[in-house]
Amino acid sequence: MNDAMHTTMSAAMNSANNDASKKPGKIMLVGIGPGSNEHMTARARAAIAEADTIIGYVTYIRLVTDLIEGKEIIKKSMTEELDRAIEAYERAKQGKKVALVSSGDAGVYGMAGPTFEVLFQAGWTPDSDIEVEIVPGASALNTCAALVGAPLTHDFCAISLSDLLTPWPVIARRLNAAADADFVVALYNPKSGRRTRQIQEARRLFLAHRRPDTPVAIVKSAYRPKQRIEFTTLDKMTECDIGMLSTVLIGNSSTFVRDGLMVTPRGYASKYDVENGGTHAGEQAGRSLSTGLNGWLETIRSSGKTAGELAVQYGLPASYIAATLAAEILDETPEADQENDSENAAGASA
Ligand SMILES: C[S@@+](CC[C@H](N)C(=O)[O-])C[C@H]1O[C@@H](n2cnc3c(N)ncnc32)[C@H](O)[C@@H]1O
Repeated sequence: MNDAMHTTMSAAMNSANNDASKKPGKIMLVGIGPGSNEHMTARARAAIAEADTIIGYVTYIRLVTDLIEGKEIIKKSMTEELDRAIEAYERAKQGKKVALVSSGDAGVYGMAGPTFEVLFQAGWTPDSDIEVEIVPGASALNTCAALVGAPLTHDFCAISLSDLLTPWPVIARRLNAAADADFVVALYNPKSGRRTRQIQEARRLFLAHRRPDTPVAIVKSAYRPKQRIEFTTLDKMTECDIGMLSTVLIGNSSTFVRDGLMVTPRGYASKYDVENGGTHAGEQAGRSLSTGLNGWLETIRSSGKTAGELAVQYGLPASYIAATLAAEILDETPEADQENDSENAAGASA
C-alpha cells in the first residue's frame, strides 16, 4: 500500500471511527458467480436480499438488478476498490448491512482482500461490533472450465496478467515457474484496451517450456449473454479474440481436446489399464505409484549419484536432495502399510 493510499484510508477511517454508532453493522463480501442467476448461490441471493446497501462495480450491480430494488446502491468504477471498501466500512459503522458484490468469488482477485486491508487499518478485529461474512461464489476458473470440459482435473494455478498493482517481473517469474512445473494455468485479466502485450509475453514464456500445440481454451463472458468459447493452441492463442472478460485456460503436457472437450487426465492411466481396470505391472491399487515418494527415494538412494547430479536430473534444489538422502529410511513394511490403508484409500478417492 503506498503512502497516498494509506493517508486517504486513514482519514476515512478516522472519520468513520469518530461517528461510531452503537448499532452493529455487517459487511457481506458476496461472490455472485459468473453473472447468470442460475449460477449464483442461494446464500449470495439471501445476502443481497438481507442488505440495506449494495456496493459494487457498475457491471456487477447490473448483473443483480432484479435483486436490489429499494436498496441504497453505490456504484463505483473499476479502479475504486479501496473506495468501495471504505464506503462499506463507513456504512457498517452506521449500523447498515452492506453487500459488497464481486463477480465470481470475492476472495479471488476480488473485494475480500482490499476490504480486510481497510478494516485492519481502521483497527477492526473479528471480535468488533461489525460482522464480516464472506459468501463464496463460483470463480471464473470453475465456470470457464465447466464450459470447455475438464481442464482442471490435475494440478492447476491462477495467474493474473494485470500489472496495475503487480510488477511485471513478479508476474513473469510466476508464469515461468508455472509453465516449467507443468501446471494447467488459468490466466485472469489477460488483456484490456491498454494492456495488450502481456498476453504475448505470457505466450513467449510458456513456449519456452511447452509444445506449441498445447491446447488452450479462451472463454469470454462465461454464462452471460455474449458468451464465446474458442479452442486454440499455445502457439496461436494471441490471434484469438481476448479481452477484459476473458479467461485463458492453458493445458499441461497431458491435456487434450477431443470432440470439443478439453480434458486434463487425472493420472489413472499411469496406474491402471483404462480398458479393463487392472493395474500395470509394479503398481498396486490404493498405494503410491512405483514412482511415488517411496519408490523415488529407493531409486535415488541406489543410483550412486551425488545430490548435485540428482538435483540437475530432477530439477530440484540440491539442499532438498541432500536432506532427503540423509533422512531416516521410512518404515515400508506390510504392517505399516496396513495401518495407513484407510488413509491412503481416502486420499486417492475423488
Ligand atoms: C478482477 S478479476 C475478478 C475475478 C472474480 N472475482 C472471479 O472469481 O472470477 C476479473 C477477471 O476475471 C475473469 N472473469 C470474470 N468473470 C468472467 C466471466 N464471466 N467469463 C470469463 N472470465 C471472467 C476475467 O479474466 C476477468 O479479466
